[in-house]
Amino acid sequence: MIPPAKPYFPKEDIEEIKTHVEKILSSGMLTLHKYTKEFEKRFAELCNVKYAVAVNSGTAALEIILRTFKLEPGDEVIIPTNTFSATAASIIFAGGKPVLTDIDSDTLCITAEEVQKHITAKTKGVIVVHIGGLICPDIKAIREICQDYGLFLVEDAAHAHGSSLNGEMAGSFGDASAFSFYPTKVITTGEGGIITTNDVNIYNFAVKLRDQGKDSYTSNLIVELGYNWRMQEISAAIGLVQLKRLSEIILKRNHIKKLYNNEFSKIDGLEPIRTPNNMVNNYYKYVLILDSNINRDKLKEELKKKGVKCGSEVYWPPLHLQPIYQKILNIQVGEFPNAEDVCRRMICPPIYTSMTIEDVNYVIESFKKTLERI
Ligand SMILES: Cc1ncc(COP(=O)(O)O)c(C=O)c1O
Repeated sequence: MIPPAKPYFPKEDIEEIKTHVEKILSSGMLTLHKYTKEFEKRFAELCNVKYAVAVNSGTAALEIILRTFKLEPGDEVIIPTNTFSATAASIIFAGGKPVLTDIDSDTLCITAEEVQKHITAKTKGVIVVHIGGLICPDIKAIREICQDYGLFLVEDAAHAHGSSLNGEMAGSFGDASAFSFYPTKVITTGEGGIITTNDVNIYNFAVKLRDQGKDSYTSNLIVELGYNWRMQEISAAIGLVQLKRLSEIILKRNHIKKLYNNEFSKIDGLEPIRTPNNMVNNYYKYVLILDSNINRDKLKEELKKKGVKCGSEVYWPPLHLQPIYQKILNIQVGEFPNAEDVCRRMICPPIYTSMTIEDVNYVIESFKKTLERI
């Protein structure tokens, strides 16, 4: 079976991680110590920002960031409908209300126009999601809108480690950004996440919040209502080893993308999502859009029988069609026609760093053969 995603741990990296784990275990310092500090320093360097705060998930990173903006009941935060539940849930847990928008069918991202359309007197901020590793092409226009209206801008960069636009790194555009290190992501720490920011106030608040709201690591004073959102030292050590591989990982995934683009563009009935020329996409996901006469679920099922397991879509269903958000937000089916159309037709063939040319060719052949039959 060709899996949809797979973490990349060459043998020598596993050996290096083992050495670090031994050191950590014998030091007795298992959390928030020097590996975490070093990981934060290196990740901030990668994103070209002043600060990074390592936490135990991308979800925690989002919630901490949202809490720094001290949302009041009724305060609105604009997000695209095709995102992971955590983007919306973190707004609710931080006291605000998610306001969903439609997306651009060519990039799967939120647009400046959609943001503008959804601004009200209650809007406090915008979360942009870099879908599948592709930086939201309107990020700078959205940043200008946010500046004009006095709104905060957050990047949900859960997919976008090392992606960039005209040399500007994911994680450096907004007031703060959240990354995930879940095992399917292009680099992983097992479970984990990180916040990046240039804002010292957000940084100071995030450091307190992830550690129960303590004034400092060694203090007994609780000065904020925090939580246990700490990253473990072992996770940080894994992250440091993974970070050294990031350029190689992005190159490899882009090579797979090239092979896929060449061959998939010759097949009738599907079209790849293209990355604009001014961008480096880490290709967390490779996304194809099927013609509307093709049954995506049937295609996935047939591919699975051939040993090709596709990844989950980004995202199906979009949030406004998810039972809990329909209940909470009361949004009607048909409200976001682009997202409903394109998300229903998307399929994500396997992509991972250790994928061989044979695997890639097998996936392409399996698509060809299956599409001829269904
Ligand atoms: C867009 C997006 N935001 C947030 C998250 C949450 O990250 P985590 O699973 O590390 O909590 C994910 C995870 O897949 C994601 O895809």
